[in-house]
Order: sequence, then structure tokens, then C-alpha cells
Amino acid sequence: MMTLDISFEGAAKLAQSALSKPAGHAVAFRELAEICRRAGAIAEARAVLGRFLELDPPAIQNPYIAELATVLGGELRQKPTGLEGGPSRFVRVSEFVNDAILAQIIALTQKGLSGAVSSAIYNRDYSGVEATSRISTVLTDVEELRTLLMPEVKAYFKQHKVAQTLGFDRDDLKKYEFQATCHGDGAFFKPHVDNNTDEIYRGRAISFVYYFHVPPKRFSGGALVLYDRQDGATFSHTGFTRILPQQNSIVFFPSETLHEVEPVKTASADPETARFTLNGWFHYPGSD
Ligand SMILES: [Fe+2]
Repeated sequence: MMTLDISFEGAAKLAQSALSKPAGHAVAFRELAEICRRAGAIAEARAVLGRFLELDPPAIQNPYIAELATVLGGELRQKPTGLEGGPSRFVRVSEFVNDAILAQIIALTQKGLSGAVSSAIYNRDYSGVEATSRISTVLTDVEELRTLLMPEVKAYFKQHKVAQTLGFDRDDLKKYEFQATCHGDGAFFKPHVDNNTDEIYRGRAISFVYYFHVPPKRFSGGALVLYDRQDGATFSHTGFTRILPQQNSIVFFPSETLHEVEPVKTASADPETARFTLNGWFHYPGSD
């Protein structure tokens, strides 16, 4: 798997330095935007791409650039015509719930940790667990967590037209699955899609991942990598956007997007140091 060897801090510093200069070569800003999004510096990628477009306004006619601007938070919404591949769409929101709800989510998770079980992926014939694809655990009692988070998720989803932004022509996605996942030391999830053809995954349309941790943050890694589309049907392993697991943030993306969770490293074996998510999948209406 290709990863670009540059840190978030490195990319952000490069971007700030480039943006502080009075002039610059347009193409350098375009390249820097790609570096920043691969490093997880999304806001910097947006700013640098903005500078590129100031220097070279007609570049917005390029379908790839137009789509990149949309993906990074621009105004365009319609997928440009003539673009088969390009960056995968997502919606990311920082500071998603208020402090009181976040505190309750953290407290409930701490309480539920003793009941966490391995989140097994079964082989296609269900003959055994495929341990090379995924290591993580899930909480078994998620009802209170679901009650806390889902009204917020559904309200945001509707108000901010998340489905439309992701390229769906309807937002009446009512049925959903929900889970609470812990990625402790060494946990990961190799590249996969969330809606493969297996019976239990069919019908998933939009994935959501809400990130949190017990402060202070004691893990590194665990970024979500969303791979670009190579053409209409397949995904590239060389172009991607990295989403860092920021406290109290959420990301939505089409379930058909190829994605992975990079390995997590924690400061100790204490389960409270893990990277936690409340995550799930909205289904197409009438899919099952
Ligand atoms: Fe996934």
C-alpha cells in the first residue's frame, strides 16, 4: 500500500509557508494541495487549492480540479461532466456535539469497556475469522450511546444535505446500523468497502464515523484513508485523502468507497487509551 511519507505537521508547515509568500507558481500550489490532503491537513489543502485557483482561475474548468475543490469543502456540488475518477467525496464536521454530550459519550464508553468483544470478520463461507483484515473490538451494549448520538447525526444529515453532497439524489435514508468500536494498540482495518455483496452488508449507502477519545489523547495513527476513484468503477491506491481521528469530529462517505484504518499505536495497554468511534451505515430506502 502506498503512503506518502509526510506528517500532518510537515504538510501544514509547508502550506503555511507557501501561503505567506506574496506570489507563487500556480502549479506548486496545486501539488501542495495534494500533499496536504494525503497528510490529513484538509483545511490547509483547501487554502492552498484556493490560492492555486486565484493564480489560475480558468483551472476550475478542469473537471478534476473542480471535483477536488468540492471534496475539500468548496461550493460546487454537481459532479463535473467528463470525470470518471477523481477524489472520493466525504463530509467532515469538527466539534460535532456539545461538551455535555461528549462527556456523556466518554463516560458511557468507559463504563462499557469491560464488555467489549472482538469485531470479527468472517470468511466468505463463514468457516472462520479472517484475522489479517481487521483487529478491533466493539462494545456490546450501545443503546444509550445510540440514543445520545443519533439524533445529532440525523439532524445534521438532513439540515446540511449530506446525501446530496456525497452524490446521492435522495436523503430519505431511514434504516441504519450502529456500533461502538475501539481501536487499541495494533488495531487496524485493511482496505475494504462497507457494502460488499454479502447478504448482511447489502443495502448500505452512506457510512458515518464519529471519533472521540478519553482525554488526554494517548494514541497515534488510526487515520481513515479514503482512496480516489480511478475511473467509474475501480479505485486507485495512489491517490487518497487522509482523515485524522480528531476528538468530537464526524465523517460521512459513500459506503462503496475503498477505505482503510491505518494502524493505531497507544501509549499503554490500558483500553481507555484507544481510538474510539461510534459508527454505522445508513441504508437505501427499501433495500431490505
Ligand atoms: Fe469500513
